[in-house]
Amino acid sequence: MAARDAASLLVGLLVLFHTWGVWADVEVNMEDRVEVYSGEEARINCMFTSTEGVGALRIHWFYVTRSGEKQQIYYLDSTMKYADRGTQFTDRVNGTISAGTVVLTINDVQVEDEVEFICLIKSLTGAGEGCTKLKVFDAPDLPSIEGVQTGISVNEENPSKIGTCEVKNGFPKPNITWYRNNTPLRPIQDEVEIAPSVTVESSKLFSVRSELRMKVTKEDKDDQFYCEVTYFVPGGIRMTETNRINITVYYPSTAVSVWVESPKGKIKEWDSIELQCRGNGNPSSSIISFKHGEKELASDQDTLVLHNVTRLDSGVYYCISTDMETFQEIPGNTTLFVNYLDPAVVRSEKAIVSQGQELKATCNALSSVDTHTAWFKDGKEISKGNTLIVKDATFDTAGTYECVVTVPEIEGMETRGTVHINVQGQPEIIKPDNTEMEQQVETTVSLRCKVRGFPDPRVEWTTSDGKVLDETSHEVTDEGVQSTVDVKVTSDITVFCNATNDFGTDALTFNIKATTHTTAATTAATTTTATTTSTSTSTSTSTPTTTTTLSSTTVKPKTANPPKKKVKKESSGGVIIAVIIICILLLAILGSVLYFLYKKGKICGRSGKQDLTKEKSNKDNIVVEMKSDNTEEAVLLGVNGEKQPPNDQRGSSLYSQSQPHQKVLPSIS
Ligand SMILES: *[C@@H]1O[C@H](CO)[C@@H](O)[C@H](O)[C@H]1NC(C)=O
Ligand SMILES: *[C@@H]1O[C@H](CO)[C@@H](O)[C@H](O)[C@H]1NC(C)=O
Ligand SMILES: *[C@@H]1O[C@H](CO)[C@@H](O)[C@H](O)[C@H]1NC(C)=O
Repeated sequence: MAARDAASLLVGLLVLFHTWGVWADVEVNMEDRVEVYSGEEARINCMFTSTEGVGALRIHWFYVTRSGEKQQIYYLDSTMKYADRGTQFTDRVNGTISAGTVVLTINDVQVEDEVEFICLIKSLTGAGEGCTKLKVFDAPDLPSIEGVQTGISVNEENPSKIGTCEVKNGFPKPNITWYRNNTPLRPIQDEVEIAPSVTVESSKLFSVRSELRMKVTKEDKDDQFYCEVTYFVPGGIRMTETNRINITVYYPSTAVSVWVESPKGKIKEWDSIELQCRGNGNPSSSIISFKHGEKELASDQDTLVLHNVTRLDSGVYYCISTDMETFQEIPGNTTLFVNYLDPAVVRSEKAIVSQGQELKATCNALSSVDTHTAWFKDGKEISKGNTLIVKDATFDTAGTYECVVTVPEIEGMETRGTVHINVQGQPEIIKPDNTEMEQQVETTVSLRCKVRGFPDPRVEWTTSDGKVLDETSHEVTDEGVQSTVDVKVTSDITVFCNATNDFGTDALTFNIKATTHTTAATTAATTTTATTTSTSTSTSTSTPTTTTTLSSTTVKPKTANPPKKKVKKESSGGVIIAVIIICILLLAILGSVLYFLYKKGKICGRSGKQDLTKEKSNKDNIVVEMKSDNTEEAVLLGVNGEKQPPNDQRGSSLYSQSQPHQKVLPSIS
């Protein structure tokens, strides 16, 4: 029995020794976990203490497979080390040993490498073991968000999709949290639904999508939604956010407003008006219709344009907004007022007033607004207010009065009316500057008589010897009449302009003195043929006879043809012919003598004539200066050989006088 007992004790001691020896001999110490980004290098430390030397140790590295088995991946001792073939780590592991630490390094860590590693150290007398979990991380891509593009109605019964967030390729699985205006959204029954879905990519990385569905209210129209993504990294948690999205919320209108978009300010007749109608709701896709009274008006969506409005278009305009979903009708209205200004009505007590009497006229235009009235005569404002009173009428009072009615508050509103006033009275001839004049014989003088008076006076032209002259023109003006007559000057003559109407008569006398160039003219007639080759000097010498006198006459060139005249005179009597022939002969002889003397160089006679020419020339110079303004007229007269129509310029008399036919003039060179 003793031997049995001794044997049991030995066994017990051996067991005890053995056990004690194991943890007394090799002690292993390892970190719980090692965290590393995928692709990087992981170092797993296995720290140990041992009573034996390093040379006696054998180290085995294992990992725990998915099924829980231990699979050796590396072995090393003092003489050798190797990686086990056929594992996921074979080509990427290496082991080192130094005082107190064995290190296993794994290159290019993969997501699949996230396993538990076991370090087993054996000595001659015992063994020690420890384990470490490897944690692998892969930061995901930047998250994205996509909102719904369509509008969301507040009338939807179920939560509507707001948007989707997605984050790709993270490890471990990232989380997505939805936010509305900086507040995280949690699922609420029938209100908020958040549906995440996770995909494991072929790379074993996680991609997460999350869809948000919500019941929206009108208040959500300004809300901003976004997602926050949280993911683990070695030693902590990171977070990124998506950008913000907003949603279109459709909500019905509760009120509708209508307004005049243009014109701004008051409306006048014939304006084009643009009315705008808008509900305070969104959709703008609600149907809008316009009504004026009971009349439906065609509009382009929320805009109604009325062209050329009249006062009949004034009134209340309704706009009805019909919601497309609920068919609820919301009305709005605005009142339009179209201002008007009727044509001016001008009334005068009399269209004809007598001299000294009072002239009274009124001007009225019916308008919806305050108006301003002013009276104008000859473009000048003469009075304000709608009543025009002119006391003590004179001929100056006669004429056209225009009243202009404007609306100060509305630009472009204006109406005009006119009234013509005649002032009754005895004719009054406006005295011209000159009624006394000298004219060369054979010229035709235009005499003008401007007469004021109403009724329009009759004008009668007579000469002192009782001959009645025919008017060449007769013009009725605002003030009265203007009459002209052409008088051919043969001798001194007195011409009367007698103007008569019911109220009396006025007369004007023109005295024309015929100048004595008659001889020269006659001489010219004879010498014409002889001197056709006469120099231009001689022609210009003839010009001095053109005289312009400041009078109310217009002397025009008459193509007085001396030969013709001569024929005329011949017929009047043989005696005259005889006398003329003798005269011509005498003159011919005289001319020959003078010519002879001239040729001989006797200057005595010539010098005298030259003086005469000079004198004429001086006169000519003056004349040219004076008539410089009327050159054109003179040319016209010369070309047309017709009467110049009476000039209209008031108060200024135009005279143009040109000499008689040039060939008639003496050329005594
Ligand atoms: C929604 O977002 C767009 C673009 O950022 C912006 O133009 C729009 O005004 C926003 N709408 C609302 C209602 O906030
Ligand atoms: C993700 O959500 C789960 C469950 O709420 C949580 O346990 C985990 O820690 C979260 N991960 C991150 C990275 O926030
Ligand atoms: C025209 O008036 C003049 C001057 O007053 C007068 O001598 C002449 O008789 C009047 N002629 C006629 C036709 O009335």
